[in-house]
Amino acid sequence: MSEGFRALVVDREDKRTVWRLEKRRIDELPEGEVLVEVHYSSLNYKDALAITGAGKILRSFPFIPGIDFAGRVVESSDPRYRPGDEVVLTGWGVGERHFGGLAEYARVKGEWLVPLPAGLNLEQAMAIGTAGFTAMLCVLALEQQGVRPDAGEVLVTGAAGGVGSVALMLLEKAGFRAVAVTGRPELADWLRGLGAAEVLPRSELAEADSAPLASQRWAGAVDTVGGTVLANLLKAVRYRGAVAACGLAGGAELHTTVFPFILRGVRLIGIDSVYVPREERLEVWQRLARDVDPERLGRITTVVPLERAGELAPDFLKGAVRGRLVVQVREGG
Ligand SMILES: NC(=O)c1ccc[n+]([C@@H]2O[C@H](COP(=O)([O-])OP(=O)(O)OC[C@H]3O[C@@H](n4cnc5c(N)ncnc54)[C@H](OP(=O)(O)O)[C@@H]3O)[C@@H](O)[C@H]2O)c1
Repeated sequence: MSEGFRALVVDREDKRTVWRLEKRRIDELPEGEVLVEVHYSSLNYKDALAITGAGKILRSFPFIPGIDFAGRVVESSDPRYRPGDEVVLTGWGVGERHFGGLAEYARVKGEWLVPLPAGLNLEQAMAIGTAGFTAMLCVLALEQQGVRPDAGEVLVTGAAGGVGSVALMLLEKAGFRAVAVTGRPELADWLRGLGAAEVLPRSELAEADSAPLASQRWAGAVDTVGGTVLANLLKAVRYRGAVAACGLAGGAELHTTVFPFILRGVRLIGIDSVYVPREERLEVWQRLARDVDPERLGRITTVVPLERAGELAPDFLKGAVRGRLVVQVREGG
């Protein structure tokens, strides 16, 4: 370890955001009770914003990004963890304000970690990652709002992306008829293979239109896209249906009217994955370990080495990533 460990480091040079692989030392890591040897991280939309500089995610430079990781505990002053324990982290500002998972070591607060759930290995935990954890939060939110499979179809926007593809799998497993919306109709068969009962082209929802309501179709929706797509789908949510909104891949603005809310009792539920309390996280991961089909998870996952993480980040901003990108941080996993 005297020669240092490998890390993807984002820096600012001549007012531009740049990244490179560097050697870093353990004593450069931020404070925390648990030192983790990172085996896998993953690339999420927010990582892409951080690595490319397209979004103001990072505030200090040089910085190690990576909003999630799975690995083994090396040292711990938190009595809940011992060396060798397998752990998972998503959120808590790691990879945004606290050095993240795109490095061979990370040091974090014990409170931020969860034990690797039984039934998942480290690679599968990151194939789920922040995106899958968020998809599970969305499905749980719909269930908590009383949306049941017999209430009708559930729409998933940005379906071929990370959150969307896991949401399709989880909805189908929970007995829902899930309808995928995608800007990539060439992926229709792949989406059906994950559990989509039907695939709609994004163009059906992408045009701004002034009508306050449309005919009622969706019992619920998982929206990863925001913007016009969210505004349009809200108009077609059925009486007392619910929409779990977690993303902005299509835009951060939302121009709507109150009519879906006051005439149809539609509920718009905001989903944040970053600061979910630990007890709830443990439950969410248990449900993921129970409900995610490993074979389907394998089908949505591409594993890439740490060396390629930086060059792949721009693909997210082009909407070109299919499913989940797992980063193998250590050679040999
Ligand atoms: N709230 C939270 O805690 C939380 C957690 C995780 C992620 N998120 C957010 O959720 C969103 C999805 O994250 P992700 O990691 O799944 O990203 P991703 O893999 O890039 O998926 C986003 C998908 O959105 C669709 N899309 C891309 N550009 C679009 C556009 N201009 N208009 C409409 N649709 C577009 C694409 O799907 P198709 O090609 O199938 O149309 C794309 O695959 C991001 O906005 C991310 O920031 C939020």
